[in-house]
Formats: sequence, structure tokens, C-alpha cells
Amino acid sequence: MRNFWNFYTAGRIIFGAGVVNQLGRIIRDRCLKRALIITDRQLIQVGHLARLEESLPSVTNLEWTVFDGGEPEPTIETAWQACELAREFSPDVLVGLGGGSNLDLAKIVACIARHGGQPSDYFGFGKVPGPTIPVIAVPTTSGTGSEVSHAAVLTDNSNHLKVSTLSPHFRPSVAMVDPELTYSCPAKVTADSGMDALTHAIEAYTNIHHSLLPVDPGREVPYDGKNPLTDILAEKAVRLIGRHLVTAVIEPGNTVAREGMSLASMLAGMAFSNSGVAMVHGLEYPIGGEHFCSHGAGNALLLPYVMAYNLPARTYELGQIANWLGAPTDGLSPEQAAQVAIDQVSQLKSRTGIPMRLRDLGIPREALPRFARKSAGIERLMQLSPRSLSEEELLGILTSAY
Ligand SMILES: NC(=O)c1ccc[n+]([C@@H]2O[C@H](COP(=O)([O-])OP(=O)(O)OC[C@H]3O[C@@H](n4cnc5c(N)ncnc54)[C@H](O)[C@@H]3O)[C@@H](O)[C@H]2O)c1
Ligand SMILES: [Zn+2]
Repeated sequence: MRNFWNFYTAGRIIFGAGVVNQLGRIIRDRCLKRALIITDRQLIQVGHLARLEESLPSVTNLEWTVFDGGEPEPTIETAWQACELAREFSPDVLVGLGGGSNLDLAKIVACIARHGGQPSDYFGFGKVPGPTIPVIAVPTTSGTGSEVSHAAVLTDNSNHLKVSTLSPHFRPSVAMVDPELTYSCPAKVTADSGMDALTHAIEAYTNIHHSLLPVDPGREVPYDGKNPLTDILAEKAVRLIGRHLVTAVIEPGNTVAREGMSLASMLAGMAFSNSGVAMVHGLEYPIGGEHFCSHGAGNALLLPYVMAYNLPARTYELGQIANWLGAPTDGLSPEQAAQVAIDQVSQLKSRTGIPMRLRDLGIPREALPRFARKSAGIERLMQLSPRSLSEEELLGILTSAY
């Protein structure tokens, strides 16, 4: 019995339109002198790097350099290239500018710059021996919550799998969340990353309760299960996503919708990185590793099917999610109300252009048993599921999603 829970987040959060202009002051206040900025060419093209750099000359004797080789769903090789630049430059702070992909790269580089070794040395939970070089995370998507989370995800091309490094030392020192940076986000990235945030919130809220986590109370675990604080954060995130996601996709310059989504994704990040994500993510990792599909789209595709599997164990919670997404459930039975949540998520998928079924991604049916086997091996996520799952049941979910 685990009769306690923990809550961690970024060391400091600065949220609001225009806050990116404060980067120089943050660096100055911490007496940092050598900044390595991790970003990608698309973000340079839309002017975000220039915007970020504007405040840097105000820091006396600051030197900075830029790694512009970030990419969606970054590979281990890309992480290694960024590490080599860090070895030459010897930064004392990493600034991640981008979506979850670049923020995750910044965390890995910050770790290797301090502790040496290579990315695979730290895969899994609890392998980072101590604090990394500080990371300032500046998200440009509204989705992953990486700016507050303890995770970094890479793509392992040799094993066709997404691999996570989880460590309390991976929480950024500072999260600078500036909704203005998301205005340029293309519709597909807005949709996919926004549905990732919805998945984080729903998984955080429907996970196993912290007191039921099947681990020795003295053992440190990557995720604690749900608690009252993660519930509150998840609820607010679901409400905001229900209100703002579709508008953000179809009206990219809608400042209210963009701010709502920036807040939602950060809150969902705070929720899931303590409570945990479960089998939507557990099923997405092998699929994303083999078939190029964004993490958000893969999760969104699978989300209603996992919700349907969880319905018998999470009927009440799903009924609440239906309400938070704005659907009336008066007069319905608890099961019917829960079904409304699943229907709402399916509608959000179709309104945001997410593929509805696995076959729409060009995945052959014969691949499903392999995916089920790989997912069953992701123990840290399996144990958070509100209903226990065998490999056959995972295959059943994948088949229903096919
Ligand atoms: N660390 C975590 O806690 C965590 C959680 C969930 C997902 N992830 C990982 O994050 C990655 C996905 O991140 P993402 O969904 O934020 O997308 P992303 O970082 O992969 O970005 C997708 C594309 O959008 C572009 N882009 C991003 N912001 C833009 C903007 N404002 N204007 C123009 N173009 C922009 C990028 O240049 C990139 O080409 C995956 O690797 C996933 O596994 C990490
Ligand atoms: Zn995710």
C-alpha cells in the first residue's frame, strides 16, 4: 500500500504572451555564461530563434551557439550530433527552443554534457546520477508538456522503437511558455500536439490510483499514479482543450485559443509527468518506432479504443470527461455518459484531421501481434493501466483500432 504521493514540476514557470523577451534576464540572474540553443531550421525560418536571441546581448560576456539540426521525433544519432557540439562548446546552460522534439534533445544533451557517456546509457528510469546542466525550455507547440516533464523521448531506428529517458533531474530549471511562439504552428502540428496533450490529461486522470500502484512503497518510480492534484490539473486541461483546440487548428492567429492551448498542454504535462501515462502511449511507442507517424497523431488515433477498453473500470471518470469536453450527459446512464466521452474524442479526431484507424497509416494487419508484444514489455506503463492487460488484450485493442 502506497499511502503517499509526490508532485514535481519545472523549477520555475514563466507564462504569458511575450515572455520569451525575458530570456536574457533569466540567464543573467543565474550568472550563466555559455548557452547552447537547441532548435531546428523550421523554427529559425519562422523567426523564433531571432526573437529568442534579441534579449541575449543584454547579458555581459554571454557566449552562445546554436544547434539547428533538431527534427521531429529525433533519432539517437541526431542527439549524438548535438552532444558533439556540446563537447566542443562546453555550455553551462541548454536552451531548448521548439516542440517536444527539441526540448527532449536539450535534456539529453544537458545530461551527457554533465555526466558523459551516450544516450543509451540513460534509457529507462533513474539512471541519471545527478543534476544535469540547467535546461531552459521554450516550447513552440502546445502538446507534449516536456517543458515541465521529467521525460525525453528518442527514436531508436535500429530496434524500431521509441525510447524514453525518465529522471527527476530532467525537469527543466525554467519553463518559458510564450503562446505567441505557437501562432506559426502549422495546422497539422497544432492538431497532433493538441491531441497529445488531451491524451496526457485523459491518461493522467484515468490511471491507477496512487494507493494501488503495485510497487514497494520505498521504491522510487517514474510515475506515482493519480492523486488529487493531478486530477485537478487534468480536469482543467481537458476543459481548455475542449474549448480551444479546434479553433487553434482552424484559426492559427486566434490569441485566446492559442493561450488556452499553451496553458492546457502545460497543465496536462504537470499531470501526466506525476500521475503517468499508460497504454495509449504504451501502444503508440512501437507503432511510432516502425511507421513514421507523429507521436500526437498516433496517440490520438488509439485514444478512443483504449478509453473503450477502460470503460468498465473508469465509467464515472469517463462520464466526467464527457462533461468537461462540453457534452451534456443529463438523463444518461453512467455507461452511456462514459460512451459520450469516447464519441467526443472521436469527433475531435475527425475535426482535427487525425487518421481514424491504424490501417489509414498503411500498417499491415500482420504487424499487430508484434506491436502487442512490444507494448506488453513496457512494464512501467502497463502497471498504470486501470484495467490489467495481457498481450492478447493489447492485441484486441489494436485490432479494434485497425
Ligand atoms: N518529454 C516529454 O514529456 C514528451 C511528452 C510527449 C511527447 N514527447 C515527444 O515530443 C515529440 C513531439 O513533439 P511535438 O508534438 O511538440 O512536435 P515536434 O517538436 O516534433 O515538432 C513538429 C514539427 O513542427 C515544427 N514546429 C514546431 N513548432 C512550430 C512553430 N511554432 N512554428 C512552426 N513550426 C513549428 C517543428 O519544426 C517540427 O518540424 C515526440 O518525439 C514525442 O515522443 C515528449
Ligand atoms: Zn505524449
